[in-house]
Amino acid sequence: MNLFVTGHRGYIGAHLVELLKSAGHQVTGCDLNLFEGCEWGPIVTPDIELTKDVRDLTEYDLEGHDAVCHLAAISNDPMGDLDPELTLSVNRDASIAVAKLAKRAGVGRYLFSGSCSVYGKGEKLDLEETDGLNPLTAYAQSKIETERDVSPLADDGFSPVYLRNATAYGHSPMLRIDLVVNNLLGSALSYNEIRIKSDGSPWRPLIHCRDIARAFVAMAEAPREVVHNQAINIGGNSENYQVRDVGDMVQRLLPDATVAYTGEVGEDPRNYRVKFDKLNRLLPDFQLEYNLERGMEELHRQMVDKGFNRADFEGDRYVRLRTLSGRLQKLAAA
Ligand SMILES: NC(=O)c1ccc[n+]([C@@H]2O[C@H](COP(=O)([O-])OP(=O)(O)OC[C@H]3O[C@@H](n4cnc5c(N)ncnc54)[C@H](O)[C@@H]3O)[C@@H](O)[C@H]2O)c1
Repeated sequence: MNLFVTGHRGYIGAHLVELLKSAGHQVTGCDLNLFEGCEWGPIVTPDIELTKDVRDLTEYDLEGHDAVCHLAAISNDPMGDLDPELTLSVNRDASIAVAKLAKRAGVGRYLFSGSCSVYGKGEKLDLEETDGLNPLTAYAQSKIETERDVSPLADDGFSPVYLRNATAYGHSPMLRIDLVVNNLLGSALSYNEIRIKSDGSPWRPLIHCRDIARAFVAMAEAPREVVHNQAINIGGNSENYQVRDVGDMVQRLLPDATVAYTGEVGEDPRNYRVKFDKLNRLLPDFQLEYNLERGMEELHRQMVDKGFNRADFEGDRYVRLRTLSGRLQKLAAA
């Protein structure tokens, strides 16, 4: 197959390009390269690479592809709060525009990188795709509005799929440490302290970033009728954790580190457990490669090997919000 991947130089995208290429697919990548210089390891390059804002894509760019994997986004809640208008323009308006371009260009499938954060603070804990959505941030709102506005484009020749991904963790050549698991591991390694900013009680569904990339491959290869115009939670039922469980697991890896509940965020309203039965039902052959313990051990080994230290933890390189605040003009001017 010939796939078009946006955001291919990101945390998840870097795995996706490597997986697609090793499965023998042809890959075009499109990324504005906002995190240039932030690499943690060597990155596999796609067959064709466009350094371009997704808002400037044309029908011509997408012609000849079988599927678009749309990952480019301002990729977390605090970044969305930094400039909500920019978040909506990139995450919602451009995502809808890319879907329309893909359809006009005759691309059969559009795989959207959505998020379980659309459930926000659920009325109940175990949330399924049919449950009510309760976005708490501009980021989550942008994901819901994209699903809503892309869905009417679905027809016999165009199949959008909305991957509602759990929160990612783990090693990637484009590492981020602004995600809860990676952050707790990073703080334990650099300060011998596992700093939990809430009281540790909130639930989160977690997934290794490479397993999200594997889900994209599975969705691209799945029969059309199985995934056509579906929202699908991406993760595993046994991979819902309370933040304090994550802290305890980090402590088992680094027994000298102490757990500190700083409570600085007050009561964390983002509290949700998610069910992944639909994914298991639709794609029974798709299994996660990682559980949290295995993924954490792998990242820990990588961090030790690379000498991860306080400068890495406090610096801009692996924290999207810090890097992006210095580079907003690149997005604003684009
Ligand atoms: N990481 C997670 O926990 C998680 C969870 C659920 C969903 N997602 C979604 O998955 C996708 C990828 O997340 P990630 O963690 O890899 O993020 P990331 O920030 O590491 O990567 C995003 C990539 O998109 C690029 N990009 C941003 N704006 C662009 C634009 N206007 N034009 C072209 N390129 C642009 C950036 O340069 C970057 O390489 C995002 O849509 C994110 O919302 C991530």
